[in-house]
Amino acid sequence: MQRTLSIVKPDGVKKNIIGEIIKRYEANGLRVAALKMIHQTGDEARGFYIVHKERPFYDSLTDFMSEGPVVLMVLEGDDAIDKVRKIMGATNPEDADKGTIRSDFADNIERNIVHGSDSPESASYEIAYYFSHIEIH
Ligand code: RTP
Ligand code: MG
Repeated sequence: MQRTLSIVKPDGVKKNIIGEIIKRYEANGLRVAALKMIHQTGDEARGFYIVHKERPFYDSLTDFMSEGPVVLMVLEGDDAIDKVRKIMGATNPEDADKGTIRSDFADNIERNIVHGSDSPESASYEIAYYFSHIEIH
């Protein structure tokens, strides 16, 4: 059993596909263990994506992630981290496999609908960044 953090990014919320995304996770055997919607500040988004602070897209990414509300969720299941990343598809929707969330809905490499933790270490940091233990069930 493993836990991972997924985010429906502001573009996914605007496209009204929160339910569609959660449905795909649940249909693949993942369980929602925590769920909430927030509209974060630029500083909060910069703290979340601190690993990318030297990357050229850091400012643009964190502006995007704070432009509107996001849906945060902890997903639990066997191999949850890799499973979520497979369901999301590659970062750039042009490279994403058909039937993945990013292939089906994303506009470009930045506005790519969803986030998923990429390792057990990042999952621990990311879950604790947004959720306290009493919010995870
Ligand atoms: P995420 O962290 O959001 O799940 O996405 P990821 O692992 O597939 O991609 P990552 O390399 O961690 O990048 C984080 C997010 O930054 C934006 N990005 N923009 N303009 C660009 O070249 C570029 N590259 C990445 C995307 O929103 C990406 O998901
Ligand atoms: Mg990443």
